[in-house]
Amino acid sequence: APDREDLEIMKIGLLGFGVVGKGVYELARMRQDMQVAKVVCLEDITLPDAQVTRDFQDVLKDPSIDTVVEAMGGLHPAFEFVKAAMEAGKNIVTSNKALVATFYDILVPLAQEKNLSFRCTAAVGGGIGWLSELERSRRSQTIQEVGGIMNGTCNYILDAMHRTGLSYDEALKQAQGLGYAEAKPATDVEGIDTWHKILLSANVAFGVTMDKDSVPVSGISRIEPQDVAAFQSHGLVCKLVSCARRTESGISAYVQPTLYPQGSLEAAVPSNYNLITFIGSASERMSFYGQGAGRYPTAYNVLQDCIDVLSGKPFYVPYGPVVQAVNQEPLRFYVRGATDSFLEENTQEHWGEGVVTAPVAVSRMHRWHKEHPQAFLAALSQE
Ligand code: HSE
Repeated sequence: APDREDLEIMKIGLLGFGVVGKGVYELARMRQDMQVAKVVCLEDITLPDAQVTRDFQDVLKDPSIDTVVEAMGGLHPAFEFVKAAMEAGKNIVTSNKALVATFYDILVPLAQEKNLSFRCTAAVGGGIGWLSELERSRRSQTIQEVGGIMNGTCNYILDAMHRTGLSYDEALKQAQGLGYAEAKPATDVEGIDTWHKILLSANVAFGVTMDKDSVPVSGISRIEPQDVAAFQSHGLVCKLVSCARRTESGISAYVQPTLYPQGSLEAAVPSNYNLITFIGSASERMSFYGQGAGRYPTAYNVLQDCIDVLSGKPFYVPYGPVVQAVNQEPLRFYVRGATDSFLEENTQEHWGEGVVTAPVAVSRMHRWHKEHPQAFLAALSQE
């Protein structure tokens, strides 16, 4: 075996020293094939073996730093820093799903053009090896569908409301206290975080670039204890779920509260856990369960990405053509909190103050929800 010193050691410029960044630093310290050389953060800290600076230029201008790990979160200045680092020829590892989903059409082609590694496995599912497994999986089969429970904060809130009858506000407060929530809770509860994650998952699974505006989102912020009571009396559990699938008319993709039968795998997911699934032409259903957030689970996947960068892995897929989500499949929906003639015409059942519709195209129901944002809606799962 060669001496360790003969092997290439990755020199990392770490951006951010919060929940994820500190975890990355600690895990990287235990390895001999990588070293966090510089940390960019605004707090006054000192580290025994890394230079701490407030100035990103100290990383950008340091030719010995080959890889930038971005764990600062937010879109700006994360985007400007990551783009500048790539233009300077540095590989990128990030856990920032908002960044990659929002600037996918700039960052992925740039990585390709510059022949750089660009990895973001921790961006979807925290510690779950999800994007990295999609990358492997699509080599040997057609992936037909991806999706699932991708936001720990929403799952925590919904789980608490179902199990202990907490109100939405009380459950949200608890989730925030546990440190899973994004800086702005709306990002979690309105489904935006899940939306970023399904955009990335669909892009990797199908080798496309989903047109973001064609992927509709409904969140959980309007749910009330009376909705939960209605679901429970019908043997159902509500989860915030994403879905992207190949259909005869094209790719469908959306995020919405979804009702699962008690006893199903989705219904059983507790606390802040994630459950993410792909369906492949050969593998059939494969589901991944674990911690979708938190310091060490997320830092673990960042480390895995760094190891993949060391072995020269690029992005997960070549940049693909832009496609619009079609969302033509008909689903039944529970709706409460608004009505109009469309809803009345499509009502099949009354559940408490809510109604359950006949099958309605997903795109049509989300168009209706945009006009009636005060309503809460949840799709009935197809199982
Ligand atoms: N706010 C996210 C969640 C963090 O609750 O799942 C991980 O992406």
